[in-house]
Amino acid sequence: MTTECASSETHRLCTIAPVIPVLVVDQIKHAAPLAAALVAGGLPVLEVTLRTPVAHDVIKEMANVDGCIVGAGTLLSDVDVTSALEAGAKFGVSPGATDALLGACETANLPLIPGSATVSEAMRLYERGYIVQKFFPAEALGGTATLKAISAPLPQVSFCPTGGISIMNAKDYLCLTNTLCVAGSWVAPSILLKQEKWNTISTLASEAAALKVTLLK
Ligand code: 3PG
Repeated sequence: MTTECASSETHRLCTIAPVIPVLVVDQIKHAAPLAAALVAGGLPVLEVTLRTPVAHDVIKEMANVDGCIVGAGTLLSDVDVTSALEAGAKFGVSPGATDALLGACETANLPLIPGSATVSEAMRLYERGYIVQKFFPAEALGGTATLKAISAPLPQVSFCPTGGISIMNAKDYLCLTNTLCVAGSWVAPSILLKQEKWNTISTLASEAAALKVTLLK
């Protein structure tokens, strides 16, 4: 897969729904009901973080849930790329990017949303064909004001801002011309997972899905 094809796939994934839930799941039995609740709420594209020992098993379970498109993050190395693919991940996410990681994803044909935090990082990724990037950590970097400022000189790059985003400020991001979607953990907080409150998570997902802004991007 060329980087252009991979980027067109990440563009497609980032325009399916306005929010990509960032998930920290520490029990395999939570994977299927959690994914089903999020899909039912209108958020089918999910990022499972590789922060728990069962993350790859969780990806495997979620990959079998109807309508669910599951990705893996943070990817750091070629080993991460291979194991994410083996688990059934359809895309990868990383808060930054290294040549080794980009090369591994390109070789393995895994669409990647690589992270950028400065204009130069965004330009270097763009030069390599990555037109969709994770802007991280979004709020700490100046949030919507920074992204809006970047959009003027660099309209070629679109972002999935992540970090400090919630139902309160997500819409401000989604109204920006260079923001395709946002990602965040607020849709599936650990306390609700622990309590297995799937209906509540579905409601949070519906609220997030309703943020969709109809702008041609
Ligand atoms: C991540 O884990 O990728 C982000 O830090 C999620 O950020 P949030 O918890 O502020 O949504």
